[in-house]
Amino acid sequence: MDGRDLVRSVKAVGSTGAAQGWRTVRAAWRRRRADAAGLPPRGAERARVPGPVLDVEPGPGGGLVRFTRSELRITVAVNGAVFWGWDGAGPEPSYALADRSPRPDPRAVLEPDKDGAWRVVAERVTVVISRNGAVEVRTPGGVTLRRDLPPRWWEPVGGGRARWMQRSEVAADARFFGLGGRASGPRLRDGTYRLWNTDPGLAFGPGDDPLYITMPVQMVVADAATHLVFHDSTWDGSVTLREGEEGAGSGHDRAGTSELRMDGGPLRCWVMVGTPARVLHAWASLTGAAALPPAWALGHHHARWGFGSEQEVRRIVAGYQDRGLPLDAVHLDIDHFDAHQVFTVDRERFPKLPVVAEELRRDGIRLVSIVDPAVKAEAGNAVYDSGSEVDAFVRDSAGKLVRGVVWPGEAVYPDFTRARVRQWWGEFYEERLAQGFAGFWHDMNEPVSFTAFGENTLPRSARHDLEGRGGDHREAHNVYALGMARAGYEGLRELTPRGRPFIFSRSGWAGMQRYGGTWSGDVATDWPGLRASLSLVVGLGLCGVPYSGPDVGGFDGSPSPELYLRWFQLGAYLPLFRTHASLRAGRREPWEFGDDVLEHARVALVERRRLLPYFVTLAHLARRTGAPYVRPVWWGVPEDRALRDCEDTFLLGDCLLVAPVLDPGTDRRAVQLPRGRWYDTVTEEAYEGPAQVLLDAPMSRIPVLARAGAVVPVRGDDGSLELEVWAPAGGRTGGGLVVRDTGDSWEEPEIERYVTRWEGQRVVVERDGENGPSEPSCPVRVRGLRTL
Ligand code: NOJ
Repeated sequence: MDGRDLVRSVKAVGSTGAAQGWRTVRAAWRRRRADAAGLPPRGAERARVPGPVLDVEPGPGGGLVRFTRSELRITVAVNGAVFWGWDGAGPEPSYALADRSPRPDPRAVLEPDKDGAWRVVAERVTVVISRNGAVEVRTPGGVTLRRDLPPRWWEPVGGGRARWMQRSEVAADARFFGLGGRASGPRLRDGTYRLWNTDPGLAFGPGDDPLYITMPVQMVVADAATHLVFHDSTWDGSVTLREGEEGAGSGHDRAGTSELRMDGGPLRCWVMVGTPARVLHAWASLTGAAALPPAWALGHHHARWGFGSEQEVRRIVAGYQDRGLPLDAVHLDIDHFDAHQVFTVDRERFPKLPVVAEELRRDGIRLVSIVDPAVKAEAGNAVYDSGSEVDAFVRDSAGKLVRGVVWPGEAVYPDFTRARVRQWWGEFYEERLAQGFAGFWHDMNEPVSFTAFGENTLPRSARHDLEGRGGDHREAHNVYALGMARAGYEGLRELTPRGRPFIFSRSGWAGMQRYGGTWSGDVATDWPGLRASLSLVVGLGLCGVPYSGPDVGGFDGSPSPELYLRWFQLGAYLPLFRTHASLRAGRREPWEFGDDVLEHARVALVERRRLLPYFVTLAHLARRTGAPYVRPVWWGVPEDRALRDCEDTFLLGDCLLVAPVLDPGTDRRAVQLPRGRWYDTVTEEAYEGPAQVLLDAPMSRIPVLARAGAVVPVRGDDGSLELEVWAPAGGRTGGGLVVRDTGDSWEEPEIERYVTRWEGQRVVVERDGENGPSEPSCPVRVRGLRTL
């Protein structure tokens, strides 16, 4: 047991009593015993590399290259993505893909290259396979973006699952991003990043890795192009990254390297090349369009572990209403369950939940429920009983139910890798809907079992269905939450076919955006925690998960008024804007930090509500194009090296640039601007990029700049749509997209396109349509004219 284990078990005891503490000791021993019996040692291993090339067999979009000790299948798909798999691996089955894999591009053919190598030339990428199995990805112009050395496998002498390693080189100037939600990014520095979804047990900061969402998705940004690479194996693994260095003077460049080691699973990958926007578009076309949150989910949410009663919920809501503070959703944590059991309600403390929900809904506020996967292992518990009937729970290699320990005590775990179980689970959301809940917050789904020592999850030997293929937790662990999200999402689609489900999940994997979003988990209440929470949102967006946000104010402890306010001001510009905290943490309501903070928080809340139409538009664009709402500042100019290293500023869509305050005692901060003209949205002062400018950041606000020419849909004072247009730079034009959607239906609203230009001394705004330009159908307000 290390120190962290000890703190974790003490925390578990503290949360739910001494009996729970002993359970965690027992659970840890059980876990050890199960793995000792269920996972025999591998014995001696033999290493293997592909060996020299033997022959090739061209096929649609590429073909098969045979080596002495392996074979490589390579296919360029119609969406421009390249797939390759070793040892007979194909793209399916896959938990990441939304559908069947895309069709091969018939124009891409396998043809001989120099020195016994082979190549596939496609529109956006050329892939060269050397005669000993190195694979090189090049731009159409011939610049190498990535060079995979021949892979290496280690397999038991007597046969069986191979572990493998793939070492790759990237350009000396390249920067790495992604790998899921990482606290120390968004630029991933040199180091080893594990691929195993993990509840850190304690509130985390930038030094903690891995966290709840890991995925083998890397976005690599270099001068020559951006590429995204996805190794489609759900197994435990690690990625060791080392940035390269350009040689000074006549010195040599040192390439950047990425070394991926996996404990199992197929050695196969997808690569997409182009601009960041193009790459994420291809990624979304492969792994699925992001679920569209209902419009209310783009407002302000207030959560709390420990509301404790209906009266307290009402008191908090009244606190917002009496002070005229916008509020769109209230989240109930596990304390509203009966004895912590999911899909139940403590009727003493929450006797009339549906009535409360209805009252809130009339005031435009939705109720969101936490949903934990673990089920109290006790006959008489309805979820346990009905799950037992369909054999829903994970068993060990001897066929016994695997028991862990979570909030309700000894618990069992649904096997979400089985379709029948997902369906059974999805039906329980009917109970939640009947209580009046409109959204769902999936938690503890790495999955967690509190443990006095060792890993706080299921034994690795635990058996899973894996869609009928059968396997164990080593393969199923990372997709456990993905399966749970799918179960909830599909259940809700059946139960409320006309509404858009709202689910956000603590854990997940590649493709999780199909079912909803996430939040940053239990982030530590300090300034590094604030920084880490931004890193997660940006990094996840680059992995195709556009909707997320932190616990504003941090999860544990009590933030200083300044920290709380700066977090609040950041949160107001992130897709999920939610205050939340732990059971014993200090308060998080905006009025708990003094009058100044309240007034400044009010400004942030009011601005968020004003920007709602813009957030709705960004949600639709994320769904249709794969572009996240929150983008790194290099999004449109990945070749700008200074921007590539800028981690404290982000773009919100195309129009806004947000420069949060991430350090105490700040009243001015340096802001790195991409090229073009930018207006401070409060002073309307204009700045020309590329440049670094020093901007005021008083306690009342963080710097937010608008791109010249931007058309931002906003909510006018009377609640109807308005266009806020920022004057284009002299002689330039601008424009923007607007999607009107105020609800949660499945109708696909059209995308309205607006263009702006100067006509003499006047800025003209027109709607662009098939029949030529027309007048905008809502009021327009032009800003940024002051400095001209
Ligand atoms: C852990 C979650 O991360 C946190 O948000 C929640 O409040 C607690 N579980 C209790 O449910």
